Amino acid sequence: MPTNQTREPIVAANWKMNTTPTEGTTLAREILAQHLPSTVQVVLCPPATSLTTVAQVVQGTAISIGAQHVYWETSGAFTGEISVSMLAGIASYVIVGHSERRRLFGETDRDVQLKTQAIHLAGLTPIVAVGESLEERDSGHTHTVIRRQVSSVFQALTPNEAGSSVIAYEPVWAIGTGRNASPDQAQDAIGWIRETVAIAHGSDVADRVRIQYGGSVTSENCVDLLRRDGIDGALVGGASLDATHFATIVLAAA
Ligand code: PGA
Repeated sequence: MPTNQTREPIVAANWKMNTTPTEGTTLAREILAQHLPSTVQVVLCPPATSLTTVAQVVQGTAISIGAQHVYWETSGAFTGEISVSMLAGIASYVIVGHSERRRLFGETDRDVQLKTQAIHLAGLTPIVAVGESLEERDSGHTHTVIRRQVSSVFQALTPNEAGSSVIAYEPVWAIGTGRNASPDQAQDAIGWIRETVAIAHGSDVADRVRIQYGGSVTSENCVDLLRRDGIDGALVGGASLDATHFATIVLAAA
């Protein structure tokens, strides 16, 4: 059974709505200068307007590019949207289902499912974000919410698509709040997510899925979180805007 030792760790930088193309280029260069360990898959997710410039900076290196957003239709009258084919050749990963997209922009489980399928069809890798709100955790619904979010997407995937997907467990109350989940909380939720994938596709597929923790990951708390069995890396927001802090997190995942 694959463990942390056999699944390649993956640390993704979610820059969110930060950095102009020039700032993104500078930040990507600073991150490259950190000599990151080759045993960790590093993914930079700049805003759409910086995807090509940041991709140029990391071209020929082991660092991959991820998009923060995509629409599932292939083309047409969808003002402001970006299709998977527009990302192909620039990005290899796409974050989907981020709680900010769900909460602020009304994305539903069904939207996340359609996007994830489109991402796979284009040969890209989704980073499917799931997680409960504080209210849901306090009322004891964490497992129910996560199971619904994960199974609605994963039941629609082929076993191969499922196994090659990345999932980010991101409790909503931990995102951008400075209040990270404890290693126990993260490990419990991630174990539950893996079990949910196993119910849909069997344990061999579930054991291949890389599951990150996200939510106020910092250079201080990363070691305790990332050394836990089953936690295969991190999706990093705020701390990814600082090259040295981000590098410390990547190192902790190695
Ligand atoms: P944060 O964001 O690290 O700033 O909490 C994580 C995320 O939203 O992906």
